[in-house]
Amino acid sequence: MKNKKVAVTGGLGFIGSHLIGKLNENNDVVIIDNQASGNIKNIEDLDFTKIDTDFSDITQANLELIFEDVDYVFHMAAVTSVPLSVNDPIKSNEVNITGTLKVLEAAKNCEVKKLILSSSSAVYGETETVPINEKSPINPLSPYAVTKATGELYCRVYSEIYELSTIALRYFNVFGPKQDPKSQYAAVIPIFIDKLLKNESPLIYGDGKQTRDFVSVKQVVEANILAAKSNKTGSYNIGLGKSTSINQLFEMIKDIMGKDISPIYENERTGEIKHSVADISKAKSIGYTPKNEFKEELAETVEWFSSKLKS
Ligand SMILES: NC(=O)c1ccc[n+]([C@@H]2O[C@H](COP(=O)([O-])OP(=O)(O)OC[C@H]3O[C@@H](n4cnc5c(N)ncnc54)[C@H](O)[C@@H]3O)[C@@H](O)[C@H]2O)c1
Repeated sequence: MKNKKVAVTGGLGFIGSHLIGKLNENNDVVIIDNQASGNIKNIEDLDFTKIDTDFSDITQANLELIFEDVDYVFHMAAVTSVPLSVNDPIKSNEVNITGTLKVLEAAKNCEVKKLILSSSSAVYGETETVPINEKSPINPLSPYAVTKATGELYCRVYSEIYELSTIALRYFNVFGPKQDPKSQYAAVIPIFIDKLLKNESPLIYGDGKQTRDFVSVKQVVEANILAAKSNKTGSYNIGLGKSTSINQLFEMIKDIMGKDISPIYENERTGEIKHSVADISKAKSIGYTPKNEFKEELAETVEWFSSKLKS
């Protein structure tokens, strides 16, 4: 993508800041982020002559003014924590549903070329099907998942009745540098790194054979740019399309760090999904073919967290 004006809501967060790093090379970017969980430090190494930052809350901002000459809107701002959504469903509804509706409405009124919504594999809930494809029914099991499913439905309706081009990307477990170690998604990665740095045994809930689809933030950024350029609408799984068990993940991190420590196994957590893997065939139709560089990307992540956690 070149010489475009793009808006990124939630641009100071983990995924948003990586997307901005990529877009910043050739485009003008406006960020709308109230720093609820993100931080301006995430983009401190970028070229600020091509970045405008608006620290407004998406539910309060004058989005029509901000989107006036914007080509693409990447909508990532959200209450991203499942536990937070359980403790305060009204708040997650306000930011993730009302906020998304306001973003869509402004994008429609400003005639932006396309809106790309960050959705989540959480919309599927517990499922028997592995790998899971987009034809599977949605089954949200938390207020957070309800908000993501509703955001997708609004996107679909805005495309159908207002002709605003939209696309929703259902991310699986995203990992990479700058991730908040407290995030529930791939938080297991920074937790393992932290424990191993301290030469302590990390906890693994259950037998460690539960699997996840860990996808690097680099691939997710790529998916967003492909989604913007494509003329497709609808919902797309964005994972690596490969499953990794928690035991395998631990072994890999241990190897990268050169440690010889065993984990402690605890009782399985109630409600935890046993297996989650994306079928990414549909995403291939927008050109998404993630590189299988899992080990290298994991090593980069280990290096980043190690230097952060040591300092
Ligand atoms: N990280 C993952 O594995 C993952 C998986 C599935 C979906 N997602 C989705 O991807 C998107 C980005 O996630 P992330 O991991 O970068 O999370 P993050 O918490 O790092 O980023 C979210 C950003 O939104 C901002 N924000 C929150 N409320 C806001 C508001 N009211 N107004 C303006 N800004 C607000 C935060 O300050 C933060 O910078 C989210 O929509 C999340 O639900 C992430």
